[in-house]
Amino acid sequence: MMIEARGLARTFKTKRGPVEAVQGVDLDVADGEIVGFLGPNGAGKTTTMRMLATLIKPTAGTATVAGYDLAKDPVGVRRGIGYVPQSGSTLPEAIAGDEVVDHARLYGVPKAKAAADGQRLFEELDLPGLWRRQCKTLSGGQRRRLDIVMGLIHDPRLVFLDEPTTGLDPQARANLWQHIRGLRDRGATIFLTTHYLDEADALCDRILVIDHGKIVASGTPDTLKQQVSGDAVRLSLADAAHAPAVTKIAEELEGATGFETDGDVVGFRIPRGGSVLPVLLRQIDAQGIELNGVEVHRPTLDDVFLTMTGRSLRDEEAPAPQQEKEVVA
Ligand SMILES: Nc1ncnc2c1ncn2[C@@H]1O[C@H](COP(=O)(O)OP(=O)(O)OP(=O)(O)O)[C@@H](O)[C@H]1O
Ligand SMILES: [Mg+2]
Repeated sequence: MMIEARGLARTFKTKRGPVEAVQGVDLDVADGEIVGFLGPNGAGKTTTMRMLATLIKPTAGTATVAGYDLAKDPVGVRRGIGYVPQSGSTLPEAIAGDEVVDHARLYGVPKAKAAADGQRLFEELDLPGLWRRQCKTLSGGQRRRLDIVMGLIHDPRLVFLDEPTTGLDPQARANLWQHIRGLRDRGATIFLTTHYLDEADALCDRILVIDHGKIVASGTPDTLKQQVSGDAVRLSLADAAHAPAVTKIAEELEGATGFETDGDVVGFRIPRGGSVLPVLLRQIDAQGIELNGVEVHRPTLDDVFLTMTGRSLRDEEAPAPQQEKEVVA
C-alpha cells in the first residue's frame, strides 16, 4: 500500500469553537493507482491531503505514506512524495525555472539534472519558452502547470495533486490527464482531488467520496455508478398542478424510487428507464395530462454523490456554515 490511513482526524480550534474538518478517515491507496478524492467545498479534502503530506498534524489516527510512518518519520514521508497545493506554491517575483530548480535541490537533485528535467517537464506540460519568465507574468493556467512541474520535479513515487486542473482550459486539462497517466504507467501513484466528475470518471482507477469529513463512498467509477439503482427519469409537465397525479401514476411502476417534484418537473429513478417509458406515457396521456418533455439518463458519478449525500457535487456553493449562537451575557 502506498497510503494506508486509519481513523485520520483533524479538528481545528477556532474562536467560534472546534471545526471537525476530518472525522476518522480510513484510506487505502495501492501502488500505481490513480485515486480521485471527491467532495463538495469544505468536505475535508485539502485537510486530509495536508495531513498525509505532513503539512499539518492529525488530531487522531495513524497513517503510513510512501512506506513511512506519518507520525514517526515525517521526513521520510516528505522525501517520497510530491505535493501540489490547491493555492499554488510559487513566489510572484521569482523566475519560473529558478523556482523549479531550487525546489528540486531541496530534495537533493543536482542543479544540472533539475534544470534538464524541469525544461523537459515544461515542454511536456506545454509551457514552452516560459523557463525564464517571472511567475507573476504567467497566466492562471500556466501558473497552475508550473505548480505541477514543482510537484513532479524530484520524480516522487507518490504525488498529491489538490485540484490540479482547476482553471485549465480543456486542451491543457486533457494534456495533464495524459501526463498523469504517463506518470502512473512509469510506476508512480497519484492521489488527486477534483470537482470535475467527468475527470474523475475518465482519469481515476478508484474514487473516494468525502462529505462532512467522512468517507461516504469508494470504488471504481463503474462500481459506484452501479450502486445507484436505475436510470433517472424527468418528466416536464405543461401544468405544475398535475405533479401529484403524475407521481401517483409513476409510483405504480415496479422499482421506481426517489420521487422528487421541482415545480413542473417530476423526477424519479427506475431500472431500465427507456423500456418502461412507453407504458408510463400512455397512462399519463390517458388521464389527459400534457407533457412538455421527457428525459432519461444513465447514472453518472453526480448521481452517486447525490444518492450518498443528498446533495449534488455540481453545487459550487459551500455548505451553509454551522452557525453557533453567540451567548450574550
Ligand atoms: N486552518 C483552519 N482553521 C479552521 N478551519 C479550517 C482550517 N482549514 C480548514 N478548515 C475548515 O475545515 C473544513 C474542511 O476544509 P478543507 O479545506 O479540507 O475542504 P475541501 O474539501 O478541500 O474544500 P474545497 O473543495 O473548497 O477545497 C472547512 O469547514 C474549513 O473551513
Ligand atoms: Mg480544498
